[in-house]
Amino acid sequence: MKTVTKAVFPAAGMGTRFLPATKANPKEMLPIVDKPLIQYAAEEAAAAGITDLIFIIGRTKRAIADHFDKAYELEVELETRGKLKALESLRGMLPVNVNCIYIRQAEALGLGHAVLCAQPAVNDEPFAVILADDLIDGEPGVTKQMCDMYNYYQCSLVGVQPVDPSETGSYGIVAAEPMGERVSRVTQIVEKPKPAEAPSNLGVVGRYVLTPRIFHHLRHIERGSGGELQLTDAIAALLREQQVLAYEFEGVRYDCGSKLGYLEATVEYALKHEELGDEFRRYMERRFCRAPAFGPDV
Ligand code: UTP
Repeated sequence: MKTVTKAVFPAAGMGTRFLPATKANPKEMLPIVDKPLIQYAAEEAAAAGITDLIFIIGRTKRAIADHFDKAYELEVELETRGKLKALESLRGMLPVNVNCIYIRQAEALGLGHAVLCAQPAVNDEPFAVILADDLIDGEPGVTKQMCDMYNYYQCSLVGVQPVDPSETGSYGIVAAEPMGERVSRVTQIVEKPKPAEAPSNLGVVGRYVLTPRIFHHLRHIERGSGGELQLTDAIAALLREQQVLAYEFEGVRYDCGSKLGYLEATVEYALKHEELGDEFRRYMERRFCRAPAFGPDV
């Protein structure tokens, strides 16, 4: 039986919805309170027992590698100044048994192409794909939930949630036959269908566990929706020869690739933040319960 020990983090997209913030920085480096999105994703993978983190990086290539590299000078400086809590937050970022691997996607040809770039590091093993801009607050983390499902079913899985029927054009949408609690067998998957053409309202969000056979299909797909090489199209081809399951994960998902989703995540994570939560809640109460509806906070 194979277990999942590798995760791929595609982070080479253009991030056009967040320009100019994403001009020199990948959107995966946008912070939610005090941690960049990519770190939440890496922690979710590590909590699932994944030991090889494979980052697909693009034009703004340095930021993510710099983030996970050890910063000796900074650590010495923090120690000298007695800023031990800050030092601890740097040192405890990832477990010591975790390896970070960086692969360059020279051109943003689409999510499918980004995943294909990971093949030399994944080889012939099952692997998780985590889109860090889909931040999912789950306990246990969604990657752990999906790896447990993989261990049981030994086949590819896509993370899904019901989406508003008017929004199917923003998601990969699956048709699926129920199999068990939260699990169904995918019979069809389509990228960004119009509401009238969508086979259901079950949308794929940024979590996958895939068998290595997906690479064969990624090499053979043609440009699809938006002129990009779409992971969804390769999964549709995989479906014809292997079982693929849809897993309705437990957790709250924030679409941090959109400004509204990003702001919602920021508010929710600030409210439950260990140091900041109480003060931020008081601010929100002042701002929205007692202060006038418009005008500056007093
Ligand atoms: P998105 O569809 O959100 O595209 O990518 P994007 O370019 O990042 O953002 P917008 O839509 O222009 O604002 C989904 C995920 O796939 C990665 C992105 O980094 C994101 O994690 N991706 C996308 C790549 O790594 N390479 C690509 O060529 C395309």
